[in-house]
Amino acid sequence: MLLEQHLERCDNDLRLLILRIAESCKTIRSGFASRQACSDTENVYGEKQMALDKWADEVLISDLRASGLVKYLASEEQPEILEFKSKGNLGVTMDPLDGSSLIGVNLAVGTIIGIFRGNVLSPGREMVAAMYVLYGPLTTLTYTARKGVHEFVLNPEGNYVLQEENIRIPEGNIFAPGALRKEYLPGHLKWIERLESEGYKIRFSGSFVADVHQILHKGGVFTYPGFRGKENGKLRLLFEGNPIGFIVTEAGGAASNGRGNILEIKPEKVSQRTPVYIGGKREIKLIEDINREA
Ligand code: F6P
Ligand code: MN
Repeated sequence: MLLEQHLERCDNDLRLLILRIAESCKTIRSGFASRQACSDTENVYGEKQMALDKWADEVLISDLRASGLVKYLASEEQPEILEFKSKGNLGVTMDPLDGSSLIGVNLAVGTIIGIFRGNVLSPGREMVAAMYVLYGPLTTLTYTARKGVHEFVLNPEGNYVLQEENIRIPEGNIFAPGALRKEYLPGHLKWIERLESEGYKIRFSGSFVADVHQILHKGGVFTYPGFRGKENGKLRLLFEGNPIGFIVTEAGGAASNGRGNILEIKPEKVSQRTPVYIGGKREIKLIEDINREA
């Protein structure tokens, strides 16, 4: 089944938006071979922007502006929320190219999208849909519109074809632990030691979207915790934690900041960071229990 057929179960504007983004992601993928060079600018977080980051951002902004479906667009690469004159009322958050420091070494990166009706500065649980496109050996598109999590693969003819429907996160023993061990906070260290004692194996590539994708399929947990000196961690609530947390939650997992569900947090600003724990319910409950007891 093709993506466009699968999306017939969704509201029309949502269906058109997901299809529009799916097309933009084909354009982004096509840029990898020709746009590898670094640019010399930094984004609002002081991170070096790759030429591709900026270009992917521009591709999505211009396609979404032209779609007439989107009123608000928040991008990880933009300091402010963009507002478009539009008939539609959808709000989009995007990380145009997550994991982009890995482009130069040919590892998997992705595009992460959250979709709201209206205001994007809303708790993640109010999302109507979320999706990511992973550019690996294959290009895959994973989406939820609150009716299960479904995955499509881009075939050589340029069509997204259904690969797996109603994905459920299995039990597993992989963990993807971000940050430096010497800077872990005590509760986090205790939790990591517990997972290690249970035989969890490390799988951390440096691309959030790719690392969570593996965990969605094999089970386990991804974390980029708060750490000494940066208690709110590294990852961004709007662009990374919420959309991916929403998808994994829809697949039967959970998303937490180590104390509670990140999808319940009302964001105060677009650039808000959060500690992130995303994966199986058991692992998430364990960190929340440890932090509660501390
Ligand atoms: O977008 C931020 C990001 O690149 C994530 O994709 C990834 O999980 C993380 O940063 C890696 O951070 P670090 O380089 O500190 O391991
Ligand atoms: Mn990112």
